Amino acid sequence: MGSNRGSKTELNPEAMPRHIAIIMDGNGRWAKKRGLSRSMGHREGSRILKKIVEECYNLGIRYLTVFAFSCENWSRPREEVDQLFKLMMEYLKNSEKELRGKPVRIRVIGDRSGLPEELVSEICRVEKNTEHIEGLDLIIAINYGGRQDILNACRTLLDDYKNGRISESGITLDSLSDRLWTAGIPDPDLLIRTSGEIRFSNFLLWQCAYCELYFTDTLWPDFRKKHLHDAIAHYQRRERRFGGL
Ligand code: IPE
Ligand code: IPE
Ligand code: MG
Repeated sequence: MGSNRGSKTELNPEAMPRHIAIIMDGNGRWAKKRGLSRSMGHREGSRILKKIVEECYNLGIRYLTVFAFSCENWSRPREEVDQLFKLMMEYLKNSEKELRGKPVRIRVIGDRSGLPEELVSEICRVEKNTEHIEGLDLIIAINYGGRQDILNACRTLLDDYKNGRISESGITLDSLSDRLWTAGIPDPDLLIRTSGEIRFSNFLLWQCAYCELYFTDTLWPDFRKKHLHDAIAHYQRRERRFGGL
């Protein structure tokens, strides 16, 4: 109640985006500005994510997808990669306790084959424990790449075709969508990227075909409720045409 109180931005509760996607970028720069290690930036970023998840829930958003680790982030120093996985473990472990009373279902998208075993089992545990929950779906993209997602879906389609589960005429936009890691989740309505970079960096390429885009210079650890409201207000001012008039 009153989550919007004190904010200068007036949001129309009837026109909320159903699905928000966020590229949470700028943790390293945030830390550098303060003379801290990059991993401290990631830690702060993870703390902020919890607050934004809560606010999305308060605003009645149905789906929130966040980019936590891209397929290309493996090229970072091993130490940073390990730190990121450790933070994800902590996030998932604490999520149930911290989200108590908040109906948040957690799902993870991406290629699990390269991830540490203990992280994969923690993902499976949290997904299973929250799968019955209807409220906000928090979808965390870990070892995710938009191109990899499409390629993987094509391979599944080919396999289904070879095994007679699908005919040639069954290869459609919908049947490909149904084989993406995001199967069953509606496409994002609003994509937010923090830290001033104006690019997709291989996030949800197929799914964002008609998404509204919002870029802000704010670094992810500085991102507050107010910034989320600004992004939604921007979305609510857009006229979505989907190729029509
Ligand atoms: C985003 O912050 C988190 C991940 C990509 C895992 P960065 O680590 O990319 O921060 P910058 O872009 O270096 O500031
Ligand atoms: C995108 O940010 C990936 C995540 C936020 C997890 P990056 O920091 O990896 O993207 P680039 O390298 O600036 O394109
Ligand atoms: Mg970055």
